[in-house]
Amino acid sequence: MAAIQERVFSGVQPTGNLHLGNYLGAIKRFVELQARYDCIYCVVDLHAITVWQDPEELTRNIRELTAAFIACGIDPKRHIVFNQSQVAEHAELAWVFSCVARMGWLNRMTQFKEKAGKDRENVSVGLFAYPCLMAADILAYRATHVPVGEDQKQHLELTRDIAQKFNNDFAARIKALGHGEAYFPLTEPLISGPATRVMSLRDGTKKMSKSDASDYSRINLTDDADAIAQKFKKAKTDPHPLPGDEKELEQRPEAENLVGIYAALVDHTKAEVLAEFGGAQFSRFKEALTERAVAKLGPIGAEMKRLVQDTAYIDQVLVGGADRARKIAAETMKAVKDICGFVRA
Ligand code: TYM
Repeated sequence: MAAIQERVFSGVQPTGNLHLGNYLGAIKRFVELQARYDCIYCVVDLHAITVWQDPEELTRNIRELTAAFIACGIDPKRHIVFNQSQVAEHAELAWVFSCVARMGWLNRMTQFKEKAGKDRENVSVGLFAYPCLMAADILAYRATHVPVGEDQKQHLELTRDIAQKFNNDFAARIKALGHGEAYFPLTEPLISGPATRVMSLRDGTKKMSKSDASDYSRINLTDDADAIAQKFKKAKTDPHPLPGDEKELEQRPEAENLVGIYAALVDHTKAEVLAEFGGAQFSRFKEALTERAVAKLGPIGAEMKRLVQDTAYIDQVLVGGADRARKIAAETMKAVKDICGFVRA
């Protein structure tokens, strides 16, 4: 039996407005994991079309996200960067998984409930089946570790349930074909650090989101220094100075959010940030926060703007990455077909 190799996989939707939450909760962690793992980072364009996307805008957003990955420090030579629709195995495996997953499991997905809202009858079937595609993204590479923000936790639990049920349903066959006790790994989510759930700058109880109507709710990766300063200046706070103790942040969502953002930007814990700023007024803290955010995001935004101009280079990264990804995913798909009992060449 071939031992399952440790591998990182993660994906981001190319739906525009990449923000500080995407960066601190996910992409910054993708960059850090490159030193320890073989990594695959995917622009999940098939996920994006679960809600309507203007085709020309989608093309632009795929390239912009790829540019963001690279500008943030992902190395597409050492690791794999590609867009999902170029590797057909994702959709193929998703079908198999939609026959493994149960309706009841998908019915419990809070993200679907939030996105569908009251209009459940009118959303796409794809939006409901979305977590099966996400499981396929990860398991096509039999990835063992998946860095994500807190909001993806339930989807990763479902991925584990799908892997487990597949391994159980086909246990005898998996063993007979020489794969040992289990074919798919039970993937570990990597959700840690001070910014796993970055909140809106306008409302500390709402997640920072690409789709929030107010641009003042989020810091975009392409915001310039003035915009960043303005947005932090206007960010909602409360009337008290910052506490010296982390426990006192509990009833203060806006303060907790800004402290978490600062901590993640400088790679400190929240406690360390409070040791420095405890007792300070928000005006002083916001100035320091702006300085840190501009220092971090300024070069990333500039590099993104430079890279998106070079569409030939970006497309070549995606095509080259897809070729490498496909080799791995095709092996998985062959094994899955054998396990299921399909006839193939
Ligand atoms: P997406 O595109 O909504 O978000 C991309 C990543 O950013 C994280 N994130 C946040 N982290 C902290 N605070 C926030 N406010 C915040 N908003 C977003 C998300 O948790 C995510 O890690 N379903 C996924 C994409 C996906 C995927 C996958 C991820 C498709 N297949 C396979 C991992 C593995 C999504 O919609 O992410």
